[in-house]
Amino acid sequence: MSETIGAGGSRKLQIWRGDLTGGELVDYELETEPGMVVLDAVLEIQRSQAPDLAVRWNCKAAKCGSCSAEINGKPQLMCKTRLDHLPADEPITVEPMRAFPLICDLVTDVSWNYEVNKLIPPFTPRDDLPEGDFLIDQMETDRMSEFRKCIECFMCQDVCHILRDHRLHNRYYGPRFMVRLASLDMHPLDGLDRMDMIADDAGIGLCNITKCCTEVCPEGIHITDNAIIPLKERVVDRRHDPLLKILRRNKDPRGRKPVRSKPPPSPDDIPGAPSSPGVPPAS
Ligand code: SF4
Ligand code: SF4
Ligand code: FES
Repeated sequence: MSETIGAGGSRKLQIWRGDLTGGELVDYELETEPGMVVLDAVLEIQRSQAPDLAVRWNCKAAKCGSCSAEINGKPQLMCKTRLDHLPADEPITVEPMRAFPLICDLVTDVSWNYEVNKLIPPFTPRDDLPEGDFLIDQMETDRMSEFRKCIECFMCQDVCHILRDHRLHNRYYGPRFMVRLASLDMHPLDGLDRMDMIADDAGIGLCNITKCCTEVCPEGIHITDNAIIPLKERVVDRRHDPLLKILRRNKDPRGRKPVRSKPPPSPDDIPGAPSSPGVPPAS
């Protein structure tokens, strides 16, 4: 069992340095303070040893989603990962996310995600909503509020093998956007039927419920159990249940209007994105 340290001491970090032309893990050592997180250590190294080290962060409070990185091989927020929670007897590796094009050092270009987000039609009120106030069941509010906790760190996208290993960015929106689609589909006042879009444009069929996305979510969103699996069940009900097909005549049971979008772009199709996936070498 690895030891941990609780009150400072010297630590070794290996930080991935490089750009699209190549790079490597570079060794650093620093004196730590009690309670330091990985972001503190990286910023201290940037201040004292490597002023050209590229790192992105904003809030240092686990709320902006900017400081996502792969720490000891696992996607984690640098500002939420304490040094004394990591094994003390080996160097801490810090690498950029691998599912997106690399810009420099620890910074990746996550703009593909924003392009995917634009493909999802926003909340559109139902035509038959009454004038004035209306009531929503507390249970439905509770179900949706979990999805609203997303901070768009994109670590679930990074760990998803469909994007990370198979590089199917042009066929699957990814778990973060399944969460967004679920929050819209489960909204009782939304007037759009997104089932065909979820199946054919967003590529939900590619997900094989490995749950890796759920394991890395810093907000504890049950991405697979509460978003992806219910969406898959709705798609299957609509398309493949013979009795429901007859009863509903292939229409949305709540009378919502069908809407389609289009498959996601590949990162190379996005203006300004680096042309190479920029996957750093394995550590
Ligand atoms: S459960 Fe689905 S979306 Fe999540 S990581 Fe696995 S394949 Fe990707
Ligand atoms: S669902 Fe969780 S892991 Fe995915 S982007 Fe949102 S906060 Fe990050
Ligand atoms: S700096 Fe904002 S989430 Fe880490």
